Amino acid sequence: MQFKTLADVDVRGKRVVVREDLNVPMKAGRIADDTRLVAALETLRYLRDRGAKTIVVSHLGRPDGKVVPALSLRPVAEELHRRLGSTVAFAPDCVGPAAAEAVAALENGDVLVLENLRFHAEEEDNDPQFAQQLAALGDLYVNDAFGTAHRAHASTEGIARDLPAVAGFLMQKELEALGRLTNDPRHPFVCAIGGAKVKDKVGVFVALLERVDGFVVGGGMANTFLAARGVDVGSSLRDSDLEPAKHIIALADEKGVPIHLPTDAVVSTAFDADENATVVPIDAVDGRMILDIGPETAQAYALVLRGAQTIVFNGPMGVYEKAAYQSGTRTIGEAIAEATKAGADSVVGGGDAAAAAHALGFADAMTHVSTGGGATLEFLEGKTLPGVAALERAALGAGA
Ligand code: 3PG
Repeated sequence: MQFKTLADVDVRGKRVVVREDLNVPMKAGRIADDTRLVAALETLRYLRDRGAKTIVVSHLGRPDGKVVPALSLRPVAEELHRRLGSTVAFAPDCVGPAAAEAVAALENGDVLVLENLRFHAEEEDNDPQFAQQLAALGDLYVNDAFGTAHRAHASTEGIARDLPAVAGFLMQKELEALGRLTNDPRHPFVCAIGGAKVKDKVGVFVALLERVDGFVVGGGMANTFLAARGVDVGSSLRDSDLEPAKHIIALADEKGVPIHLPTDAVVSTAFDADENATVVPIDAVDGRMILDIGPETAQAYALVLRGAQTIVFNGPMGVYEKAAYQSGTRTIGEAIAEATKAGADSVVGGGDAAAAAHALGFADAMTHVSTGGGATLEFLEGKTLPGVAALERAALGAGA
């Protein structure tokens, strides 16, 4: 990957349009998880401290081209103001007179947040005129939104045709950490994979099968693999179509890559019947629901992970949000933390994995926690991310 970064350009006095992924979960008008906002601070502080006129653009949620007041970025701008400890202005539109006036008022070192890009349908349509309107606000474009790099939108792709374009520090960090997994990783390389459905992660399995030395599997997807192997998983969450799991098992067998599956489980009679939670061998589920891997499985998985040099944690082992079912994910997290301390490269990413690592307190012990959901999965699948391709194109001098 060849792209320019912030360190390659002089930003003083320049109007810099920074695409961040400030798509943070909101609850009743408040930020429920500020991980992405915190991850954006390094680039924003750098720009402020070097005297740039910083214009932050982002989406929040999926308003589908309409103004949805609950998806305004105003509370996010207010939180950025608290975090940066300096004034952060807000403009109620990302293009047009409101945006132009707010940009014209910027002094060197000021930071401005523009309203949700997705209030305009042209953003997701990657409309060239809309991209030009965004580009007209700045002298330089910085893409720091790794979490949205898998979208070819006006603010992630189109704009890089109209302005000089470089990567922000978060984008750079993400691409370096994830790049190490695809580019000559140290072995043994183990992937701890969980989440609801095998069918959502077939691409990740197939791509990682070329690189990893083994998988340890939990969550709903373990139930699907178990069912594909003929185990009765009772009323557990599982894919109705077992063919994708059978296909992955056949490929893994062919390549000699072990897919470790649970030998015991924490089961209950219903999702919310925690009082009935009990540990059983995997062949004794007896009509109940599997809600976590069992202690024997967790220890076996921990052993595999402690011996690894490279680890991807790609989804929780059970319903970690509930105390009765978090022990499997916790044990795995502790084993990855131990391996990391001993020198392993550990990356957390894709969907629920980062949320679980933060909730159970092992995120800080990992080498890298990705801010991407879909973007991380697509990267691991080996797909080209349009936001990254645009930066590479810009570095070659095309389009800027
Ligand atoms: C994400 O949360 O994965 C990114 O912010 C992208 O959001 P999207 O899936 O709505 O495009």
